[in-house]
Amino acid sequence: MAIARQFTHSLAMNRRTFFLSAGAGGLASGIAVRADETSVESVPHDGPALGGAPVITGPAPEHMVILQPLRRPATGFVEFAVGDAEFQRVDADVGGLHPYESHVLKFRLPPLPTGKAVRYRVTLRSIDWVRVKQWVHGKIVAGDPEPGVERTFRTLDPGAATSSFVVWNDTHENSETLKALHESTSALNPDFLLWNGDQTNDVHFESEMAGQYLAPEGLPITDRWPLAYVRGNHDLRGPAARKLPSFTGTPDDRFYYSFRSGPLAALVMDTGEDKPDDSPYFAGLAAFKRMRQRQADWLKATITQPWFREAPFRILFCHIPLWWVRDRTDIDWWEFSKVCRDAWAPTLQEAGVELVISGHTHSHTWMPASPEQPLAQLIGGGPQPHQATLIHGIATSDRLSLKMQKLDGTLLQEIVLPAPA
Ligand SMILES: [Fe+2]
Ligand SMILES: [Fe+2]
Repeated sequence: MAIARQFTHSLAMNRRTFFLSAGAGGLASGIAVRADETSVESVPHDGPALGGAPVITGPAPEHMVILQPLRRPATGFVEFAVGDAEFQRVDADVGGLHPYESHVLKFRLPPLPTGKAVRYRVTLRSIDWVRVKQWVHGKIVAGDPEPGVERTFRTLDPGAATSSFVVWNDTHENSETLKALHESTSALNPDFLLWNGDQTNDVHFESEMAGQYLAPEGLPITDRWPLAYVRGNHDLRGPAARKLPSFTGTPDDRFYYSFRSGPLAALVMDTGEDKPDDSPYFAGLAAFKRMRQRQADWLKATITQPWFREAPFRILFCHIPLWWVRDRTDIDWWEFSKVCRDAWAPTLQEAGVELVISGHTHSHTWMPASPEQPLAQLIGGGPQPHQATLIHGIATSDRLSLKMQKLDGTLLQEIVLPAPA
């Protein structure tokens, strides 16, 4: 039903675009040529370009990205300053052209020092083209520069004594849940936020992705701390799912990466879909077996690095759990990711990973390590406010403390893991 409404809305907007393009008048007595003229989607062409607060992601200081959601086609640039230093400008030009996008601008920052306050601001400028009848060439109609407000975030510090982090999962575009999670997270002021997949109910339109991934409900979800993005199986579904790297800013636009925050070494991996590649559901579009193997090879290389080996705690964050309670009785291997477990668990065990933090089941669960399950696993809840959870973790050199709570603050699970001897 929701999908049908989206198509109806899109087609209605497209008819409006056609009317504006073909009708008399238009900008400067010409015919407006929309950036999305050939698309089934449409975007506004008046008012400000700003589509919400920027998102700080990476999250490691050497991979910082600023994503700026847009509400109309625009170009722009970023300025940043470490501490009290002067602002430096960062452009995103490619091949002699500054960026020009309809939904998001993406700026990769140079490697930043660790554990520092970084001030930043984004300046936008809306851009349209007008094709005047007698002209062969078009005319650019640019809006006034829109200087953004100055904000500050702090880069992660591998040498810090503590690391505080918050985990969301399976928000599935639920407004009430997102607002409550954002409010609680703002109060906790973590070092980073990890969004553990299924941000969406599938990805149908690029024009909706800034609202789905960057400024849901218009909230400034990660303009003050870095976001660690994790891809869920619903974020793999729909015709616009291949546009996801434009809206996420992970290192090298991969959905498996690692970073260090104080005593914590974090692995982020992509569990892919919850059905086999040859499922008729995918109509031949799935190729997750190869992706799992690439991650297995990457994992083996990552765990040998000193920054990882020397960390007091190691956590794997992934959307689909590697174990599930039904695993022990009525087994359906695709309710959890047995295929990823088979591909990765021996290496994770060898690496001394203590904990897996997942989502996907929409049922919060704590599964301590056992002889059948060598890694402990914490699974967050679901999208509805009565199911949703916030996980808050604090790592020090000698303990990892985790609290999983409901949206009203009710404590569901408290876990303390000592550092391995
Ligand atoms: Fe989900
Ligand atoms: Fe899921």
